[in-house]
Amino acid sequence: MTRILVLNGPNLGSLGHREPEIYGGRSLAEIESTLRARAAELEVELRFEQRNGEGELIDVLEEESGRSAALVINPGALSHTSVALLDALRAFPGPVIEVHLSNTFAREAYRRVMLTAEAADSVIVGLGADGYTVGLEAALRAASGETRVGRDDN
Ligand code: DQA
Repeated sequence: MTRILVLNGPNLGSLGHREPEIYGGRSLAEIESTLRARAAELEVELRFEQRNGEGELIDVLEEESGRSAALVINPGALSHTSVALLDALRAFPGPVIEVHLSNTFAREAYRRVMLTAEAADSVIVGLGADGYTVGLEAALRAASGETRVGRDDN
């Protein structure tokens, strides 16, 4: 069974009541349960986590290095600021899919800078909660070597 880590950064624990006009009305727990159902169908073992702190996120990444075959990450605002998280993503041995619920390119200029995306194989923006499902499917395919642009024959 392929193990995949889904990691959420700061403030994503407040989804559901945090700016629902931007991020939608679904809580992180609801997103997790939808994702768990899809993971079961795909026979994926899922670890789903949320941390507010940069260091805590990096701790989870270190823990899962070599355990999870792929990573789906929504770094939240750390995407725009954190070289430390970028470095940790570069060290992660499997495919990395970065997800943002909102279309960050259609928002404030500072959200168009995506430091962490430099370490991602793929970036999904603007699909809302569906982005996690698409991200999980993409992570599984990349982990199985079906799609990994620039890393193999794709
Ligand atoms: C976000 C976009 C970030 O700019 C923001 O800071 C978030 C959420 C998203 O999922 O759209 O916290 O990552």
